[in-house]
Amino acid sequence: MELRPFTGTYLTDPAAVWHDLLRRDPGVHYAEDLGMWLISRHEHVREAFADPESFGNALTLAPVYEMCPEALEVLARLDVPPTTAAADAPVHTRTRRALRAAFAATAGRVEAWYGPIVRRRVEQLVSGLARRRGEVVDLVPEFTAILPLLVVVDILGVPERDVSRIRGWADGQIALVWGHPEPAEQVRLARGLLEFWHYCQDLVARRNAEGSGGDDFVSRALRHRDGRDDVLTLTEVASMAFNLLVAGHETTAGLLAHALDQALSVPERWRWLAAVPERLPGFIEEVLRYGPAIDGWLRVTRRPVTIGGVAIPAGARCLLLIGAANRDPAVFTEPDRFDPARPALRDHLSFGHGPHFCIGAALARLEADIALRRLAEAIPGLRLADGHVTAYKPNLAFRAHRMLPAVVDADVRAV
Ligand code: HEM
Repeated sequence: MELRPFTGTYLTDPAAVWHDLLRRDPGVHYAEDLGMWLISRHEHVREAFADPESFGNALTLAPVYEMCPEALEVLARLDVPPTTAAADAPVHTRTRRALRAAFAATAGRVEAWYGPIVRRRVEQLVSGLARRRGEVVDLVPEFTAILPLLVVVDILGVPERDVSRIRGWADGQIALVWGHPEPAEQVRLARGLLEFWHYCQDLVARRNAEGSGGDDFVSRALRHRDGRDDVLTLTEVASMAFNLLVAGHETTAGLLAHALDQALSVPERWRWLAAVPERLPGFIEEVLRYGPAIDGWLRVTRRPVTIGGVAIPAGARCLLLIGAANRDPAVFTEPDRFDPARPALRDHLSFGHGPHFCIGAALARLEADIALRRLAEAIPGLRLADGHVTAYKPNLAFRAHRMLPAVVDADVRAV
């Protein structure tokens, strides 16, 4: 079979393709066009996430198509050491420990360390939007994509003047690795990635030279390192910053866009949320299940494995279809119904599962809660612009909205 992720149905209505894969036994299929195994059922996706001895992360961040020689030449100079998302044990165990020391991952710690940052950035953006009464604004560049970027930049202690460059590099990395750009574009994006990597190395070298007394992520990682390369090398600190700057914003940007799309496409829903903000956690969880910001994530087999009765050889790339697993009727009744009141809301796999479980899950949940709460309070009449049709950027992993035009209206319009 073929998935054809960059054209046709998968680009506009991925759920139709997921249902087809789920229905066809045994739910594990080889996609000829990608040269990858597609794993679709909840049980099997969870099993693969939980088994790092069989399903490794070494190629998780490697491009999904054959790159042109010029782009490969540039990428050959990208000497980023694998940490967390791209590493297997024992490097993963060591770098994950460092990440847990320097980055807040539990709800309580996230609120204490990052709550004030998130509230300040949300206030800045929402008050700017609220002033534009009557205008149509594209919520993607003006809210959903910029908020998580500003937050992660503050968390890492990166100067705000660098935000637009980082945004270009990070968007470029997502398109280069999981998209399908033309050769000339591949070269341009690969050069950008190299610049981004040098930027992160400089950031860490400067912070190290200045002394690491701050409470930003880089300073905390340097203190955890305490000058010992066996704990973490300086280049590994830079690699973690490099990954966090992308993982920390492109994902939550997707969550916010999917949430606003769901909330605003049914006008009563926005009012329903604004009236009782305590409904938000359940709503956000259902958005995570229904429209995951990352709906496919890669693994490579480290030995021959059998999953769902299908034998997969060693060294094969596998796409864990999180989006399909989240619509598996074996786990979710009426999976196509968006229902924030469904039981076992958190059974989705949108943050992965097992030893690589997303370190930023609590931050993403907090950010979405604060952002939607404040937006609904300040602009209760916010609504999607007439005639808007949802379209996504072509990508194998990140399901990102191209735009989300909305009318800024303080008054609630009768429906
Ligand atoms: C809605 C938002 C988010 C989604 C959907 C998401 C999704 C994921 C997924 C699917 C994984 C892979 C798990 C695996 O390989 O088993 C992951 C890992 C990771 N995420 Fe997130 N993520 C989100 C937000 C964040 C944020 C805000 C940060 C940090 C600021 C972050 C940092 C990471 C890191 C560092 C890893 C690698 C962990 C490891 O390999 O040990 N993510 N995330």
